[in-house]
This record gives sequence, structure tokens and C-alpha cells, in this order.
Amino acid sequence: MIVLGIETSCDETGLALYDTAPLEGNRPAALGIMGQALHSQITMHHDYGGVVPELASRDHIRRILPLLEQTLGQAKLDLKSIDAVAYTQGPGLAGALLVGSAFAQSLAQSLNKPALGIHHLEGHLLSPLLGDESDKVPHFPFVALLVSGGHTQLMLVSEVGQYQLLGETLDDAVGEAFDKTASLLGFGYPGGAAVSQLAAQGKGGRFNLPRPMLHSGDLDFSFSGLKTAVLNQLKKQVDFESAGAAEAFRADLAFAFVEAAVSVLVSKTTKAMQHTACQDLVLAGGVAANTQLRKAMKSQAQKMGFQVFYPPQELCTDNGVMIAFAGALRLLKQSPLDTLTHVPGAFDVKPRWSLAQQK
Ligand code: KG4
Ligand code: ZN
Repeated sequence: MIVLGIETSCDETGLALYDTAPLEGNRPAALGIMGQALHSQITMHHDYGGVVPELASRDHIRRILPLLEQTLGQAKLDLKSIDAVAYTQGPGLAGALLVGSAFAQSLAQSLNKPALGIHHLEGHLLSPLLGDESDKVPHFPFVALLVSGGHTQLMLVSEVGQYQLLGETLDDAVGEAFDKTASLLGFGYPGGAAVSQLAAQGKGGRFNLPRPMLHSGDLDFSFSGLKTAVLNQLKKQVDFESAGAAEAFRADLAFAFVEAAVSVLVSKTTKAMQHTACQDLVLAGGVAANTQLRKAMKSQAQKMGFQVFYPPQELCTDNGVMIAFAGALRLLKQSPLDTLTHVPGAFDVKPRWSLAQQK
């Protein structure tokens, strides 16, 4: 079964074709990726300091068809080979989601194949199963720490389709805190990676930023105060630092910010591992690319005896492969394929949508 995946929830247009044959033959899941194409709008939104929804939708419209052709060409397949279309139904920007949804629904109807709406975060949290060696993938049940520009959640994943929310941010997502701190430090959007690189040149001990909700007794997070603490330090600095010292000041402040954010993420994740008694942890979403977080989580995992898994590096940020793959896993659970019906309504998107309802 060949599944086309379409991702358009924010500022990346991603398409991919996934063949389920390796899954059915118990071979590494990564072998099923037949073709993929991605266009990032980052440079288009850069000057605005964030994603401009209307521009995002228009660009998805412009890119989606050429990217489909590119993906089919890479896979050496034609439209008729597609058995099902999986698309990101939510959460995300309404207009951007509508482009992917309308495109997927129309294509599926014209091919007389099923269309399947996928939760964006489900795509992220299942993507570590796409490892290219089957012994290097997480086993159910596992805990997932989803850290992106829009989400910070700890989730218990019992199996495909069974997700229990353990904790989440009560205000800003950690990626958002990285991006806002980046902007305060003079970087463009999105600036998470730039803050991380600046922090690598900084030293600890100069600033002691708050660790929000570290001892709250639950698995929730809060990151908005951390960004305010960075702003307060910057305000103090303005007058008395000379130009040379200002560079070290920025680096040390970035260091303190990353240290505080990472220590809260590691501490709450450790509690989630203890609480669920899971052996495997999945780190997914754009912030999972962060070097400091990876290093700290690895050393904590060694200490506590759990294993950490990541999506393949190129699949950490938004992409079509994770949507095709999540669709494929869901369809395999529901086979045979011809019993599936179309998702009704081409405009059925869910800009706000919880993957798991309860904590
Ligand atoms: O998952 P993603 O591509 O998009 C969604 O938000 O769904 O995540 C993007 C986020 C941005 O906030 C970006 O600044 C952050 O991930 N990010 C990083 C790093 N790379 C990307 N944050 C910290 N360190 C990084 N290396
Ligand atoms: Zn994402």
C-alpha cells in the first residue's frame, strides 16, 4: 500500500510517498520512504518576526503541486499508484491547513481512494519509529516529549492511536520561548538554533534565571516567565556594558536561558519516565534538534537507565514523511483498505485539536 503524505500546517510544505511493504514484512520502517519533497517558507517570513498566516497559505498553494510532481518523480511512480492520501488535519494555521486538506480531499476523490486526516503531533511522535535499523527504534509503550514552536507536551504512547497527555505547557511553548529570546538577543525568526549556538560560547554562573514550575508536583511546564527574565537582564545591561563585554553578556545570558529551559525539560521528563515506568523516551519536534537538550537528556538517561530515541535528523522539523508514515500505520490497523470511507467535507480542518483529551 502506497500512502501519500501532505503537511501544510504552518510554514513548511511537505509531501512524501510511503510504501507499507517493509512494515508488513517486518523490515526497517525507513525502507518504506519512496520519495519526499519539502519547501520551507522560513526566509519569506523572516523579516516579519514570525509566520504571516495569509502569506503561508498562498505559498502552500503555489508549492504543493510542483512538490507532488517532484515526489512522484523521485519515487518513479505515477498518481495511479497512490492507495491513500494522508494529510495534516490540525492543529495549525487554519488557512494553511485548508490548502493541504482541500488538495488531499480532491486528489483522493479523483483517484477514488481514501483520504485520512492526521494529527500533526502524532506525525512528530511516531517519526522515531522511522529509524533505519529495527533494533534502534522505540518500543511501545513509550513516553514522548514533544517540543516545538507551538507545543510542549509529555505524552504516554501505549500504541498507535493511544495517547495519554501527562503534562503540557500552561503558556508559551519552549520553541516559542527560544524564538522570543532569540528576538530579544537580536536574531531573526525562528531563532532557536541561533540561541543554542550563542549559548555554546557562553559561560555559566553569571545569571541565575528561574526554573519555572520545577517543583510544581505535576508534569506541566511554563516558559513565559523565563523570556521575561531574559528581558529584565537585558534592560539592566544596556547602559554600562562596553561593546566587547556586551558580546560575552549576550552569550552568558543565552547560556543561562538554555540551561534553565533544558533543566526543567529534563527534570519533568525524568518524572514522567518514573511515573509511567517506561523504558523508552522519544524526543520530537523542532527543539529536539537542540544540542544542549540532547546532551543533558542522554546523560540523565544513562543515570536513570532509560533509552532516548529521536527522529532521523532531517525529520525533526515539519515534513511530509511523518504524515505519510502516521497515515500508513493507522491504515494498517484498519485494513482492509476498501472498507475505509472518505473523511467527509473537504474543509474539515481542526486548527485547535488535542491529540489526547485527558491528563
Ligand atoms: O516542529 P517545528 O519545526 O515546527 C512547529 O513548531 O511545529 O519546530 C520549530 C521550533 C522553532 O521554535 C525553532 O526555533 C525551534 O523549533 N528549534 C530549535 C532548534 N532548532 C529548531 N530550538 C532550539 N534549538 C535548536 N537547535
Ligand atoms: Zn511540528
